[in-house]
Amino acid sequence: MMAGFQTLIYEKKEHVASVTLNRPEVLNACNVQMRDDLYQILGAIKDDPEVRVAIFRGAGEKAFCAGADLNDFLTAPSPVAAREVRWKRDVWGLFLSIPQPLIAAVHGYVLGSGIEISLCCDIRIASEDARFGLPEVGLGIIPAAGGTQTLPRTIGRARALEMLLTNRWIDAEEAYQIGLVNQVVPRERLFQTADEMAQKIASYDPMAVRNAKQAVTRGFDLPLREGLDLERRLASGLRNFAPRGNNNPGGN
Ligand code: COA
Repeated sequence: MMAGFQTLIYEKKEHVASVTLNRPEVLNACNVQMRDDLYQILGAIKDDPEVRVAIFRGAGEKAFCAGADLNDFLTAPSPVAAREVRWKRDVWGLFLSIPQPLIAAVHGYVLGSGIEISLCCDIRIASEDARFGLPEVGLGIIPAAGGTQTLPRTIGRARALEMLLTNRWIDAEEAYQIGLVNQVVPRERLFQTADEMAQKIASYDPMAVRNAKQAVTRGFDLPLREGLDLERRLASGLRNFAPRGNNNPGGN
């Protein structure tokens, strides 16, 4: 266990890491300290070969994360300039470059950077009480944790723009319908479901898991031909490399 974070709890059990956003008194709003803590923890996860998968969740009953901390980000003389300086360290680029699969287990309010943090993860599991919204434009700013790029890539351009431009909040069921989340489960089963999924992923060959993630995430922005080349390289680097035509030794 890594100690000393003011805003996050980091735990590691065997091959599964768990990061809890831990400012429940302000609905886990993301302040500069949390951003810095995340940067450190993400670096540690990336460099730790023991970690095969990580889960992100929020502390407290009410929220995964209610967005950027309004006291930190909107009270400076020039909010835009302040945000620019403070968010300069590329925590979100680091987040999106983590080689291990990341699972977000979200409940309650999932707003602004809360959605964006979940979109830096590969799989999102929501509890039935989850509510998603992007209030930024109404505050005179835009998402700055990758959301303008990750959201349309996940739910499509028109839906992403509607959420961004109108700040219409959606519930867990709608989030599932539009592919923002992979599954919706009762609140009391949220963390258990994420843990079970993480255990399953962690039980597989870690290199196969990483290469599968890399093939999809890096391939997504490539033309098909280059994506297929990438897949071929990643497939042939694996211990169990099986030329096409072999049957499926791993099963399901
Ligand atoms: N930044 C800082 N503090 C926040 C916060 C944020 N983004 N979101 C909530 N809080 C604080 C509240 O100020 C409140 O603090 P207090 O107890 O000292 O008054 C505490 O968290 C609990 O929130 P509260 O507003 O009482 O809960 P609620 O259930 O009535 O409302 C929300 C929940 C999410 C609707 C409401 O808190 C809200 O609109 N938050 C701001 C969302 C936002 O605009 N985020 C920025 C995105 S860029």
